[in-house]
Amino acid sequence: MKILVVGANGTLGKAIVAELSPRHEIVTAGRSSGDVRVNIADPQSVSALFSAVGKLGAVACAAGNVHFGPLETMTPEQFDIGLREKLMGQVNLVLAGREFVEPGGSFTLVSGVLSRNPIRFGTSASMVNGAIESFVLAAAIELPARRINAVSPTLLEESLEAYGPYFAGFDPVPARRAALAYAKSIEGHQTGQVYVVE
Ligand SMILES: NC(=O)c1ccc[n+]([C@@H]2O[C@H](COP(=O)([O-])OP(=O)(O)OC[C@H]3O[C@@H](n4cnc5c(N)ncnc54)[C@H](OP(=O)(O)O)[C@@H]3O)[C@@H](O)[C@H]2O)c1
Repeated sequence: MKILVVGANGTLGKAIVAELSPRHEIVTAGRSSGDVRVNIADPQSVSALFSAVGKLGAVACAAGNVHFGPLETMTPEQFDIGLREKLMGQVNLVLAGREFVEPGGSFTLVSGVLSRNPIRFGTSASMVNGAIESFVLAAAIELPARRINAVSPTLLEESLEAYGPYFAGFDPVPARRAALAYAKSIEGHQTGQVYVVE
């Protein structure tokens, strides 16, 4: 199957590529790396991405920034980063990708543990992750002949050094386990699922 992996050069993206590449043709995309460059926050850039890669069996996304900071000082502009990048960025992939993903194909988006288990400074991430999961539930009943799921990992072991101090008491998982949820989404037949990986 031909699979577009957006954010393929990131911590999670690399694990997805490692899991899927032995069995599939992978097209990698990222903002500053990959076979094709894209800014998912920009709908025109996303349309250009699909025109460049053509028909696909699946789209897997492991990209999307959010701003972390204290709610007390958080500005609308800082909330807007997560809305534009992680939420609408992934919605943009689904909207523009509808006609390029073959019938029976799938979209797999990324949310994260903070939708169900909040941490200090993570309000924007919690809000956006919850919205992504609700989008997936709703889109699954309307996307004609295409499937859509979300992968919602807890903190990845590979990110422990960078983010560990914010996630006291969380039990990190290897990115490889989150990548398995992408394989379940893409190679399985389920739709409207949120795969919790923790
Ligand atoms: N790491 C964790 O512990 C963890 C846990 C749960 C959920 N998540 C979620 O998983 C996702 C990936 O996390 P990560 O730690 O793997 O991040 P990462 O290492 O920073 O990698 C992010 C990747 O996304 C690409 N990217 C970023 N913004 C983009 C944009 N606007 N358009 C296109 N590509 C863009 C980057 O491309 P370039 O490299 O080309 O710039 C990079 O390859 C995030 O949404 C994060 O919230 C992560």
